[in-house]
Formats: sequence, structure tokens, C-alpha cells
Amino acid sequence: MSLGFVREFLRSPASVGAIWPSSPALARMMVRASGVPTASRVLELGPGSGAFTGEILNSLGSGSRFISIEKSPELARTVAAKFPAARVIEGCATRLSVHLEEEAFGRPDAILSGLPWAAFDDGLQAAILDQILASLDDRAVFSTFAYFGPHWLKAGRAFRKRLEASFRDVRRTEVVLANIPPAFVYYCRR
Ligand SMILES: C[S@@+](CC[C@H](N)C(=O)[O-])C[C@H]1O[C@@H](n2cnc3c(N)ncnc32)[C@H](O)[C@@H]1O
Repeated sequence: MSLGFVREFLRSPASVGAIWPSSPALARMMVRASGVPTASRVLELGPGSGAFTGEILNSLGSGSRFISIEKSPELARTVAAKFPAARVIEGCATRLSVHLEEEAFGRPDAILSGLPWAAFDDGLQAAILDQILASLDDRAVFSTFAYFGPHWLKAGRAFRKRLEASFRDVRRTEVVLANIPPAFVYYCRR
């Protein structure tokens, strides 16, 4: 458990959006749903304290590239120190195209999001999804998790509709009970 994560939540609740990092079981589900082992350019948005990062690195094929973009300077430093094999950028998902260009990364074929969509207003959700859609490779997978329960509420349903308006194919995994709170993964293709 990362104290840095809790500290960042207390400092910036609307940006961190969760008090507790995701579990290894949810990390495995994200990685599987995103097809990380066969992807050649993998991007993570909002690693927090690195709940998904280690699982991504463990599953990454040889010769594949990986970058992770985190807005909080403290958390970006934490993840970089914890996972020296990861290229961690302190940056913002709203500037995704700029970060990808600066890294000469090309188009990701898997984007895994740990971003707290429920804490974002409509404008910010739309701005970040536009950046994601503009950067994805044609056969790419975009994945993101949602807490089971709140997905029935108005904001949760609106987010699903937004995904369906943006992607040709939107699917979800079974619920991962070994997560606090239980969660599932949306995985989407253009
Ligand atoms: C709910 S935490 C998730 C952390 C981790 N992926 C997990 O599941 O435990 C959300 C993370 O997204 C980061 N974040 C929020 N807005 C962001 C943005 N616009 N660009 C990049 N990272 C952002 C926060 O700083 C925080 O670390």
C-alpha cells in the first residue's frame, strides 16, 4: 500500500479519484483485456502508485515499447523509482499527442487508463477521449476500469454512452471481486 497515493488523494481528490490503489487481480484483468503481451506500443495513463505498471512490464513482449503518463509529480517520481524499466513521464492526458510526439512513440496499440473518469467533468472527459482516439492505432484496444455499482448511476451510464459513441466495439469483463471496491474493465476498439 502506497502512502504517497493516499497523500496525493488528500491533496488532490478530484485528480486522484480513488483512496485505494487497484488490486493485482484488477491489474491482471486490465492487462489481459488490453492484449498487452502481443502489443508493440503500450501506453498507460494515470499510473498512480503503479498498481498496473508492474503487471504491464511483466507481460510486455520483448522489443515492445511502453510509456506511462502521470500528472502528479510526486506519483510520477514514485513510479519511476519503483519501476526503473518503465519510461514514466510527468504530464497530462490532455496533452497526449504532444507527449507521444516528444517521445517519438508512434501510435499506441494498447492504451490502459487508470484515470478517474468519474471525477472529471464532461469537458475534461471529452478532451481526453479526443486525444486518445486521435492517437490510437486502427486495431488498438483502449481499456479502463469502472467500479461495480456506481456504473449504474447517472454519471456511470453517461460514461458508458460516451464510450459507445466513441468506439465501434465496447465490451466489459466480469467483475473483479478482489478489488476495493469491486470493479470491471471496459475494453474498446475503434
Ligand atoms: C484512481 S488513480 C489510479 C491509479 C492506478 N492506476 C490504480 O488503478 O490504482 C488516478 C491517477 O490518475 C492521475 N491523473 C489524473 N488526471 C490525470 C491526467 N489528466 N493525466 C495524467 N494522469 C492523471 C492521478 O494523479 C492518479 O495518479
